Amino acid sequence: MPNIHFPLFLLPVIISLILFNTAAAGGSVHDLLRQHGLPAGLIPNEINSYILDPTTGLLEVRLNRPCYTKYDGPAFFDRVVRGNLSYGALRGVEGLKQEELFLWLPVRGILVTDPSSGVILFDIGVAHKRLSLSLFEVPPECLPEGDGVGGRSVVSEGEEDKKLRFWN
Ligand SMILES: *[C@@H]1O[C@H](CO)[C@@H](O)[C@H](O)[C@H]1NC(C)=O
Repeated sequence: MPNIHFPLFLLPVIISLILFNTAAAGGSVHDLLRQHGLPAGLIPNEINSYILDPTTGLLEVRLNRPCYTKYDGPAFFDRVVRGNLSYGALRGVEGLKQEELFLWLPVRGILVTDPSSGVILFDIGVAHKRLSLSLFEVPPECLPEGDGVGGRSVVSEGEEDKKLRFWN
């Protein structure tokens, strides 16, 4: 009899361990941003995993798939987004683009120098864009291209691949 009950007894423990680990891996990059004085909405809500190198501050976030979303205008996240995280800044960003006047421009850096100003700065190379912090309070949902963001055309999977390579 004990041979039958022993694994059953362990089952809830194992399940809760699995759930806890999944939640920890999936949720806390947004807390990590907040702890660094940055808004959680800088990273979409559906992430696969992330790694922070504590010595260099290099943050690498893996999404389930490339992600279109919208802040003041269309934005695009690659499957992997990287940046050097420090207090109030994500520098050397790779994998995030914003559409400006029909051009997709890489976002190189993100800065919150004065939270009380309600302003966040996006370094897009040609300029520093001032955006309202309130646009970034909530981690945005990923949308397929053409669903009101970044899309004037609907592309098939294959075409999308080509386009992504072109953007890189
Ligand atoms: C980001 O961190 C890496 C590794 O520490 C460093 O080589 C690189 O210069 C940094 N980039 C920026 C823009 O700070």
